Amino acid sequence: MIDKIKGHIAEVERFNANTKDEIEAFRIQYLGKKGILNEFFAEFKNVPNEQKKEFGQVVNELKTVAQEKVNFLKEELEKTQEEKGVYGDLSRPAEPVEIGSRHPISIVRNQITEIFSNIGFNVSEGPEMEDDWHNFTALNLPEYHPARDMQDTFFIQTDPDILLRTHTSSVQVRYMEENKPPIRTISPGRVFRNEAISARSHCIFHQVEGLYIDKDVSFADLKQTILYFTKQLFGKSKIRLRPSYFPFTEPSAEVDVYWGLETETDYRITKGTGWLEIMGCGMVDPNVLRNCNIDPKEYSGFAFGMGIERIAMLLYQIEDIRMFYENDLRFLEQFKSAL
Ligand code: DAH
Repeated sequence: MIDKIKGHIAEVERFNANTKDEIEAFRIQYLGKKGILNEFFAEFKNVPNEQKKEFGQVVNELKTVAQEKVNFLKEELEKTQEEKGVYGDLSRPAEPVEIGSRHPISIVRNQITEIFSNIGFNVSEGPEMEDDWHNFTALNLPEYHPARDMQDTFFIQTDPDILLRTHTSSVQVRYMEENKPPIRTISPGRVFRNEAISARSHCIFHQVEGLYIDKDVSFADLKQTILYFTKQLFGKSKIRLRPSYFPFTEPSAEVDVYWGLETETDYRITKGTGWLEIMGCGMVDPNVLRNCNIDPKEYSGFAFGMGIERIAMLLYQIEDIRMFYENDLRFLEQFKSAL
């Protein structure tokens, strides 16, 4: 009998409860009118005299531990309820965290700047609202130059001198005005053109400009730099430079990457040639250097410019440029990147 009571004491000591109901059920089980304790007390008269003393002691001990347990559990429960009031239920499972994804334009911009920063280019920026000098005149496009019509410009209200930059080449000018050669800089940014929106063109898009000015920079340096870039970004090592015209470079070229025909899903992409145009480039025109107070007899350099959307469309096989600006989560969630 005494062992049985001791077993109950051990059980009471182990007992734990998290709710009011559990504690109450426990209290009734031990301390209630028809509870275990009263059963033992009723048993007292049947206990042989020589055991009565010890029996009484253990039953009283059981009563004390049970009573203390009930009080202790009630206090604990009150405490956690107070905490819940401030912090909520601390034991509830965490809510799932939704991790956002970077916009594909940001991913590609970061990849491009990373590739060039590995060969010593820094990153520079300029304003989106520009003046005529930085966007046109200093870049060898004086007033009435026909090449100004190549890029339909948004002007700010009635002032013909203030406009939204039509290309990031304006940052070249700003950078050369403020820094002495050697210059190695990459300028990513948003540009604006008054163009009809279609699957292939938009009135707001992004470009990356590159500029390298030093002593004895040659066209071979330009070609190798671009080859390094296309290998890094596309994993393609066949490029060609087609003669072209830009007012700010002389000679000028357009760069094509050999993409091959294996992955061509749409005939319009390379028109069956396997070649894709990715950027414009050339040797910085001496007039541009002079406009930025750099002596063309001492220094030479190259520049290039590419559209980020175009590169992203090639990399991810996106067929409509408007997808970038619609903020459709089903589109955006597909892009995951550490960069
Ligand atoms: N600014 C040109 C455009 O928007 C791209 C470009 C071509 C930039 C040749 C350059 C360059 O720096 O050398 O179409």
